[in-house]
Amino acid sequence: MTTVEAAAGGSVESHMNDFPIKGFHHIEIWVGNAYQAAHYYRAVHGYAIVGYRGPETGVADTASYALEQNDVRIIVTAALSPDHEVTRHLALHGPGVRDVAIGVPDAERALELAVARGATPAAGAAQVAGDRGHWKHSAINAYGDTIHSLVENPDELWPPPDFRPRQDSIAVPIGLEAIDHVVANVALGEMDEWVDYYERVFGFVLLRHFDDEAISTEYSALMSKVVWDGSGVIRLPINEPATGMRRSQIEEYLDFYRGSGVQHVAISTADLVSTVTAARRRGMGLMRVPETYYDDVRERVPGLDADLDEIKRLNILVDQDDGGQLLQIFTRMMQDRPTFFYEFIERRGAVGFGEGNFKALFEAIERDQAERGNL
Ligand code: FE2
Repeated sequence: MTTVEAAAGGSVESHMNDFPIKGFHHIEIWVGNAYQAAHYYRAVHGYAIVGYRGPETGVADTASYALEQNDVRIIVTAALSPDHEVTRHLALHGPGVRDVAIGVPDAERALELAVARGATPAAGAAQVAGDRGHWKHSAINAYGDTIHSLVENPDELWPPPDFRPRQDSIAVPIGLEAIDHVVANVALGEMDEWVDYYERVFGFVLLRHFDDEAISTEYSALMSKVVWDGSGVIRLPINEPATGMRRSQIEEYLDFYRGSGVQHVAISTADLVSTVTAARRRGMGLMRVPETYYDDVRERVPGLDADLDEIKRLNILVDQDDGGQLLQIFTRMMQDRPTFFYEFIERRGAVGFGEGNFKALFEAIERDQAERGNL
């Protein structure tokens, strides 16, 4: 497998002093029915519904729910009228991630810097106030119709200040802890452009890359580069399709999403076996891997500290790199279009993304793709 590790960290630090960030702040997903989406996230993924914003709170044209599980924060938003931006987004893309929001110490300064470095603004700096306090945010455009809000939230308010907070006594968490990485699928030929964007605007650096030789199956291939902030609070793999015998899963995504966008959000857990056991009990759809995947696990991950029968029964993927081991699993698609899904990941020192699993994962995805007649 061809991978390239990042260069020394010295230049990373000077960049980071230049454009300080705190990490992923939250994800906003635009959907057709925020009420039902929020209840799905609570019932199946274990998120607490901690806030609401809509007509009852003085916002006439959208309904939003704020979700929380440990450090994972999600907003689901739907529009209430046919000519709204959210409605148009939904018609074109289907439900999907609109905003990968990043925490910053100064939203105004961050926007100025980003624009000076070639980013286009999506929203000017604005203060959002409520009974519990205030925060400031601005936003820049990223790949496709995705944006990065830049959120200055010194009091660590959640839900956002303009949401009506609510107690959730029903939610039972499944151990989801924090956003580990967010993966973009971009159009053929655009990967390097977006790597350059993150290097230029945020001062991120290339962590590693995989060429189409490394990530290919009989049918499809992709190329991937990972940019990160140097400290590990933000990791952004960016995929583009590579030429294969058939339509690749990245092409299928691009066709159905009608352009570039977020493919998956990976969320960390300290105990993936418990998380997956709870998720399965609640009926969460998870990606299946071929039985044969487990045949060589002992050779691929020597010294795996886990009950292999349990790992197999739960369909958990395992991998190993220089830093240690990792366990991961992918959900089925979160909506009818084959576009956005989640990954749950337990890092046991590993710093990678489960590269050893890519081939097995792709074969699993392709089997589903074949069932839909899109391979
Ligand atoms: Fe991932």
